[in-house]
Amino acid sequence: MSKPVRKAIFPVAGLGTRFLPATKAMPKEMLTIVDKPLIQYAVEEAMEAGIEQIILVSGRGKTSMSDHFDHSYELEQTLRARGKTEALKSVTEWLPKPGQVTVMRQQEPLGLGHAVWCARNMILDEPFAVLLADDMILSKPGCLKQMVEAFNETGGNMVAVEEVPHENTSRYGILNPVEDDGKTVRAQGLVEKPDPSVAPSNLAIIGRYILQPDVMVELERHERGAGGEIQLTDAMARTIDRIPFHGLRFDGRRFDCGSKEGFVQANVAYALNRPDLRNRVMNSLQEFCRLESDN
Ligand code: G1P
Repeated sequence: MSKPVRKAIFPVAGLGTRFLPATKAMPKEMLTIVDKPLIQYAVEEAMEAGIEQIILVSGRGKTSMSDHFDHSYELEQTLRARGKTEALKSVTEWLPKPGQVTVMRQQEPLGLGHAVWCARNMILDEPFAVLLADDMILSKPGCLKQMVEAFNETGGNMVAVEEVPHENTSRYGILNPVEDDGKTVRAQGLVEKPDPSVAPSNLAIIGRYILQPDVMVELERHERGAGGEIQLTDAMARTIDRIPFHGLRFDGRRFDCGSKEGFVQANVAYALNRPDLRNRVMNSLQEFCRLESDN
């Protein structure tokens, strides 16, 4: 059996240009779904899956993210003094333990593969997870936990997959499947962002990965792929002959929070999923829709 998955890399160095002006002075991973930033959802999902070491691969001007995972003594002191127990819990309960969060810098924006490679000295010879915070998956248990369970059976490399409309293959890493039991798909090849005319399937990689350290060796080559970037998909593809590669069709609903539409949808879905908000939000939405259709 493979070693347990204890470490997770969170590539969070992107500029977030699709969300300007919101991301002018704030990291896109700090954008909020209901009342929590994207990065907190991803870190909580990882910890639920048994991850012990959180590795943020960050960039300049993004220190608010590391502050978010640290104590805020002034705030906590004030909340305590005012007896605001619930508010205090909301900022402390989920905090990782001392030493669990490491922040590295990706000094140049050379692609997802390069961001992952920046964390190589933290990974060494263990399998590791990668989570892209702007892919949100609403599910119980969380997507990464589902993957860890499947990975304990298959080993090798594993990604979360979802069928996407064929015309959208050029937005994703796409699997070339060879065996498919309806849940787990074994792939014999991978292509990053293929044109729909040449895409081997419509099974797309969603931002959750469990990878063997061998992928770091491939990334070391710094080969450029789609868009001139060092692609994680290409590095995984180069190991496919010797390391089994599986996609897991996860249970849950995925939101592409890198797009404005997906971000708004996630806010609505996560609000409806909250018992304290569900009824009020549902009523307001019904009212909005009625008014809109009357116009
Ligand atoms: C990245 C990966 C791609 C994957 C996608 C999932 O692309 O390169 O293979 O399908 O994430 O969100 P990006 O969205 O960063 O362009």
